[in-house]
Amino acid sequence: MSKLVLKNKSGCGALSVAAEGNQVSVAGWVNARRDLGGLIFIELRDASGKIQLVADPNRNKQVHDIFSTVRSEYVIAAIGCVSKRPAGSENTETPTGLIEIYPEEVELLNTCKPLPFQLDQACQVDEALRLKYRFLDLRRDEMQYNLLLRHRIMQAMRHYLDKERFIEVETPILSKATPEGARDFLVPSRLNPGTWYALPQSPQLFKQTLMISGIERYYQIARCFRDEDLRADRQPEFTQLDVEMSFIDEDDVMAVTEGVLLEVFRCIGVELTVPFRHLKYDEAMERFGSDKPDLRYDLELKDLTDIAKTCQFNAFQAVATAGGQVKALCIPDGNASVSRKQLDLWQQAARSAGAKGLVWLGFGTDGVRSSGVAQHLSGQELDLMKQATGAGEGDLILIVADTAKDVANILGRLRCKLAEELKLIDTTRHELVWITDFPMFEFDEKEGRLMAVHHPFTSPRLDHVQLLESEPQLAKARAYDIVYNGVEIGGGSIRIHNQEVQSRAFAAIGLTAEVARDKFGFLLDALESGAPPHGGIALGLDRIVMLLVGGRSIRDVIAFPKTQSGSCLMTGAPSEAGEEQLKELKMTSHPAVLPSNC
Ligand code: AMO
Repeated sequence: MSKLVLKNKSGCGALSVAAEGNQVSVAGWVNARRDLGGLIFIELRDASGKIQLVADPNRNKQVHDIFSTVRSEYVIAAIGCVSKRPAGSENTETPTGLIEIYPEEVELLNTCKPLPFQLDQACQVDEALRLKYRFLDLRRDEMQYNLLLRHRIMQAMRHYLDKERFIEVETPILSKATPEGARDFLVPSRLNPGTWYALPQSPQLFKQTLMISGIERYYQIARCFRDEDLRADRQPEFTQLDVEMSFIDEDDVMAVTEGVLLEVFRCIGVELTVPFRHLKYDEAMERFGSDKPDLRYDLELKDLTDIAKTCQFNAFQAVATAGGQVKALCIPDGNASVSRKQLDLWQQAARSAGAKGLVWLGFGTDGVRSSGVAQHLSGQELDLMKQATGAGEGDLILIVADTAKDVANILGRLRCKLAEELKLIDTTRHELVWITDFPMFEFDEKEGRLMAVHHPFTSPRLDHVQLLESEPQLAKARAYDIVYNGVEIGGGSIRIHNQEVQSRAFAAIGLTAEVARDKFGFLLDALESGAPPHGGIALGLDRIVMLLVGGRSIRDVIAFPKTQSGSCLMTGAPSEAGEEQLKELKMTSHPAVLPSNC
């Protein structure tokens, strides 16, 4: 145990000129060291910030000797008086830049082997290396800030919900499958060989059960596990703020969510305006080609289908008369500013999003330039297209003809790409929007059946219950998503609280009564046992923190994240299990891991 570890340790970053003349003790990591021949300067860092220590061989030889040997990331403790830096050597850019400490005593608490990467050069380093040495990566200011903000956001959420009379209840991690559209992670049961727990994709069924148990206002900062293909904003293990309420409708859930988000955004000094806007799903798809539209810029999709129905250009006419859509994006002043090369790249992007082609028309003073289509369109047709898209002289329009679904998907993606490339995004804006009136079901080509768009516990609109059997595809759900700057940060719904309707919703997605009972028998029983009307929402905590720190990957706001292939590079998980362990679980490791009685 060291001598100097340090009762009443001062935070390095908490010191200021107010402490001038005080004797303080500090401890932390050597962030930087400058040896000027005589004087040696050390920037000492701890969780609170940084402070400059100076060793002068003429004042204290012992301290100077230790300073001569320390290197980056060594751990030291020091005691000394806070003094003002000499005139001319102040640094007004750092909070402690006006002061320094000439230690009277220093103790080396630990050394550090040569670093695999310099912490101040982490941006240029392969992320895999940062993840392997996460204990070093997390020492960086940026990561410390991200974790601190994450903590503050969780505190703000808890504080607000507590004030609103919600109680936090923990639900099991070793659990049974809850369908949220991903694969389950399974855990073998030693005590019941051949059976498996599923890690929860969300606490959905438990929170509904809690409502039926009379907990009227529940929340949980909950871990969720989904075995799905990973992207920058997805992790196999992530955190939700999960909320459920009884005797409420959509407006109540939205009001609570807005209250939470108001507090969350205050953590970064942003004052949101509530209530947020609302957009119906159909309108969002029509206007923005997405159910998570980024509303920080316009660039709306314009409908040319009616014009296309009678136009001379066969490709448009054929699609429009066959029930498809022809839609366009208009880029103001794009005729001159967008190069041919750029247009070729957008055509490629449209094709990789599934387009058969991307037609473009540029309206210049010297005529119309186009991707070989203008000659098939009459002057009147071109005028009608200009009118419908709002295009004027100098503007450019990009057109896609396909099924309504494909047009939305292709132009929706192109809209985001264009906005980035053309710098149309006002990054100072915070655009939150509720998307409502989702369809209950959509047809899944791969599964060959209807699937719930949210989850199968979502209530249909009351006047659409009868569509569950007759025309399920037309039924609208009492579901809502909350979208921030084009990212879905949360989703929820009013639930079915009637056993008979729940059974019909299961039937609509092809679950037989037998399978439904096997999987969700406890829910069906609970729904028959005095279930109150209820509903809720879950907010993606990692995504919210990522967006608030302006990050591009949720890995940067999770202390120990997984890679794209689901591994933890620091611990080496997932890893093989030992024979002994497998034997206990009645499993073999070869050739495939299966329970022995399978
Ligand atoms: P949903 O599946 O929409 O709803 O999830 C809610 C929010 O969780 C976040 N999220 C993720 N974040 C990181 N990695 C992932 N793999 C991931 N998947 C989802 C998103 C999303 O909006 N039980 C319902 C909620 C309810 O109905 O109350 C549910 O989980 O931000």
